[in-house]
Amino acid sequence: MADSRAGTRRPRRAATGKTAARPRETAAGPVRVGVLHGPNLNLLGRREPEIYGRQSLAEIDALLSQAAENLGCTLRIVQANGEGELVEAIHTFGDWAEAIVINPAAYTHYSLAVADALRAVGLPAIEVHLSNPEAREEYRRVSVVAPACVGKVAGFGALSYRLGLEAAVRLVQERRAAREGKDGA
Ligand code: DQA
Repeated sequence: MADSRAGTRRPRRAATGKTAARPRETAAGPVRVGVLHGPNLNLLGRREPEIYGRQSLAEIDALLSQAAENLGCTLRIVQANGEGELVEAIHTFGDWAEAIVINPAAYTHYSLAVADALRAVGLPAIEVHLSNPEAREEYRRVSVVAPACVGKVAGFGALSYRLGLEAAVRLVQERRAAREGKDGA
């Protein structure tokens, strides 16, 4: 599992081996977003470029880090080829992030484990795809992950990730504002 970080530290582990509690949302701090890339996305750039484009995953991550700087948010980015690794990465994000942007790749179409992990951590998740799976083969038209997400961006190449990140940040900001309004009332 590859893990690249943009200006953040690993969530602290308590003596029990469990991850520390999720930091309380604060209006002042940067929005914390976990980005997950599923299987085979590490091969972007040379993997079916006519479908997925010529940008490498490192280039997409660099774009995302730049966008995160402009949006004032902090990113942690993980790529994993295994289903269990993806599930564990979601659990770890659950202790730190306020939203998740996920391209589950092929797991989109059949991984109830990934969908359940997203439900279990209870963070708003945005599903993203480089291609538009609904315009492709029949078996790609089903997303079992979609019902565990607040929304989806697909078909725009690397821009799908950027739009997904913007949506995630906006969502968290709205939730923070709503919470502040409640606290202040
Ligand atoms: C993908 C679409 C999936 O159907 C496929 O299995 C992928 C990539 C996309 O980003 O377009 O690996 O998630």
